[in-house]
Amino acid sequence: MTKTALVCGAGGFIGGHLVKRLKREGFWVRGVDLKFPPFVETEADDFAVGDLRDQYFCRQIADRRFDEVYQLAADMGGAGYIFTGEHDADVMHNSATINLNMLDACQKRNVRGMFYSSSACMYPEHNQMDPNNPNCAEDSAYPANPDSEYGWEKLFSERLYLAYNRNYGMRNRVARYHNIFGPEGTWDGGKEKAPAAVCRKVAQATNGGEVEIWGDGTQTRSFLYIDECLEGTIRLTRSDFEGPVNVGSEEMVTINQLVDIAADIAGKKLHKKHIPGPLGVRGRNSDNRLIGQKLSWKPTATLRSGLEKTYEWIERQVRGNKERAKAA
Ligand code: NAD
Ligand code: GDD
Repeated sequence: MTKTALVCGAGGFIGGHLVKRLKREGFWVRGVDLKFPPFVETEADDFAVGDLRDQYFCRQIADRRFDEVYQLAADMGGAGYIFTGEHDADVMHNSATINLNMLDACQKRNVRGMFYSSSACMYPEHNQMDPNNPNCAEDSAYPANPDSEYGWEKLFSERLYLAYNRNYGMRNRVARYHNIFGPEGTWDGGKEKAPAAVCRKVAQATNGGEVEIWGDGTQTRSFLYIDECLEGTIRLTRSDFEGPVNVGSEEMVTINQLVDIAADIAGKKLHKKHIPGPLGVRGRNSDNRLIGQKLSWKPTATLRSGLEKTYEWIERQVRGNKERAKAA
């Protein structure tokens, strides 16, 4: 029999890619989002445009016949969106409401279990002050002290999904994503994360010119390519392990190094201009011991290999925009 999946947030970056992956596996897929994917046509068999903050809408789309339910919808963005403080109330209200509604609807409609995408932003700030030695082991989460309201909402919601497991016998799964990147992600407008922002800035710069970087560029992060994020997501969903578990790369780099790799891919020599901007934690890296133990799998692709594909796609978007502006 054909398997079926519901993907909430299917108009977004990870949800859009997940729909494609599930279609390749032969699933019948229903996507749900406020909007269709902005860059490519959805491959979902059925796409419901609607607002998951509306509990009646959630009850319409949830159905126990779905073999897999992925809840990726959230009010989110990169440092320029979540660390300015300007969107705190909306981020918390919108994302918490979506999770409360979807869990209630799925539980009442006897959905067996849901996948939930939490974030590394829920880890305590005090363990991420040293850029060379951050601690993001799953058991370091408490005492809790996320550095953003976005992180606090993620922490609340991951607890909510696990409470439904204990009290209602659901089989929910929780992953903590660490900065996911790839083609067809937000690359401008203010919600883009560092890999996309850096690729855009490098693509827009002329050889010998400069790129602006927020902070001194010595802050560290790891970045996970979209294909590996999907692999981890699907393996966790189909496993007996509820999580929470990190889904991220252990290849930690400084933001300066990220710029150097992108410039090298572009074949450009560029000067870095460090400017004030929203920074977030000083250092962050995935700790993949638990995922390796529980799923007998962990990500292995290099940052460079993912960045080559991402740069190529973003460079095309930048060129397309320039050509459209010229023609207008
Ligand atoms: P995204 O912003 O591209 O996708 C989220 C989607 O949710 C958007 O298409 C948006 O329209 C939709 N949405 C928001 N509010 C909605 C509502 N009220 N009703 C229906 N749809 C709504 O983000 P993404 O990068 O694809 O992230 C997917 C999930 O993974 C999110 O929960 C995010 O917090 C989490 N996550 C992502 C990353 C990352 O680096 N991309 C890191 C950690 C966690
Ligand atoms: N976005 C962005 N744009 N970041 C920049 C830029 C720029 O032009 N220049 C430097 N940076 C720096 C930021 O200041 C930050 O220190 C670092 O690059 C990483 O920024 P982001 O990629 O935007 O966010 P993040 O890693 O702090 O948090 C992201 O990852 C989380 C999971 O690990 C966010 O996307 C969260 O939403 C996500 O949950």
